[in-house]
Amino acid sequence: MKNVSNFCIFLGLSLLLGTSIFAQVPTESWRPSIHFSPKKNWTNDPNGLLYYKGEYHLFFQYNPKGNEWGNMSWGHAKSKDLTHWTELPVAIPHDSAYIFSGCVVWDKSHVSGLGDPKKDLLIAIYTADFPNTRQEQHLAYSNDDGLTWTKYALNPILNINMKDFRDPNIIWHAASQQFVMSVVKPHEFAVQFYGSKDLIHWEILSQFAQQGDSGMIWECPALVELPIEGSKESKWVLSVSSQGPYKGSVGMQYFVGNFDGKQFVNENPKEQVLYVDHGKDFYAAIPFYNGMNSEVFWLGWALNWAYAGEQPTFPWKGQMSTARTLRLVQTQAGLRLKQVFKPNFASIKPDLALKNIQIGSQWKFPSPVLLKDQVYLVELDFSDMNSGELLISIADEGSPEKFNIGISTKEHKIWVDRSQSGKILGNGFAQISEATWLPDRSRKIQILVDRSIIEILAADGTVAMSTLRFPESKSEKLSIISSSGPVNIRGIKVWKLK
Ligand code: FRU
Repeated sequence: MKNVSNFCIFLGLSLLLGTSIFAQVPTESWRPSIHFSPKKNWTNDPNGLLYYKGEYHLFFQYNPKGNEWGNMSWGHAKSKDLTHWTELPVAIPHDSAYIFSGCVVWDKSHVSGLGDPKKDLLIAIYTADFPNTRQEQHLAYSNDDGLTWTKYALNPILNINMKDFRDPNIIWHAASQQFVMSVVKPHEFAVQFYGSKDLIHWEILSQFAQQGDSGMIWECPALVELPIEGSKESKWVLSVSSQGPYKGSVGMQYFVGNFDGKQFVNENPKEQVLYVDHGKDFYAAIPFYNGMNSEVFWLGWALNWAYAGEQPTFPWKGQMSTARTLRLVQTQAGLRLKQVFKPNFASIKPDLALKNIQIGSQWKFPSPVLLKDQVYLVELDFSDMNSGELLISIADEGSPEKFNIGISTKEHKIWVDRSQSGKILGNGFAQISEATWLPDRSRKIQILVDRSIIEILAADGTVAMSTLRFPESKSEKLSIISSSGPVNIRGIKVWKLK
């Protein structure tokens, strides 16, 4: 009796405090398998992405003490293939300052003069956030491959006495033989560039501001040189995390242009807005530093500040996208960012490969190819479809639960509807997301399903849509539905990913 009344008091208190006791039940069925999520606690931005001695390092914004934003420190994980991750101890713990976002550079020639000259040297440059007071750029170094870090005794290395001034990202700019840092003044919608020879002393080079989308503050900038596919040319791309395609939700945009070692010049009109991803769950992506910057690839935080605190998972909250290689492609509308899944999923033999399939009103993927809890990549070639609409539906047969991906060839549109996909969060979570593709791009769509994360790349990688979902049903099947009479699909391939 006493136990029952204690439970009632506990339940009453939980409800009163607005927390649910059920929120503390582990939700492992929602844990992505090939995407990184910390074993427990909160994460947001990826930090210090680095390819080094055959391993990919991922540092990340991390709360070592809880399942919500706070105590910001750098967590650490590494992987040999970008799909199996090993979580390591907290790399840079906070002190009186929170350790906000930043990057890691491999100081191959020991230009900084820090640490042990006989050992490999990694340099982390991040924002030290003194809550409600000031943000400065600080440095820490590691002689043990990123496991432990020493905070530089003469920090800050860059301070302009601003409350908001953050997220340094560094490249080696070979032509001007200097390191170049991009860093934002979020409320001025400005990226500043600084140059340095030794990673310690930084001089202002220039500022790029108030172009594209300035509906929300700018964060996490990155400047990279990308090859233009099919040519020997390259161009510079500046990405920033900001407002995305949906009002009130964050996302990422990019600018294409030139960088001469001093200034970035946007080659498009300043009002033009180019978004990186038209889903709602891709933010704060930064490229992996790989010394030469020969192949550029990045990953982002797969969540949105609009509803991040509500992510109904336990004991972790927050996860990363898949790594994607970046290029530029020449399209009828100009140069556009192309993203390709970096793990080469399609290099192995598909588990299902079908050609010329007639879709009547509904076509079900042969079971047991696609069952809940599996991780898979689906590729659909709809080149022969000149009109009509298709739905690719991941649905529970016994309930209204479904996650729909729509394709309209007439309007060149792809949309994602998660409004009945299980647990629905607030702040625009249920709103349909959509993207149009340029008619000169290929009609292929790749859908990567990893439990709670669904990533879409389509139209030659010029359309990306990253979307979370929290299904509640016990089973689900994948089918293709045509609402406009029979259509012909040129090819379907499915890879089960372990
Ligand atoms: C972006 C961001 C960064 C900041 C970090 C703090 O999501 O707000 O600007 O450094 O998160 O956790």
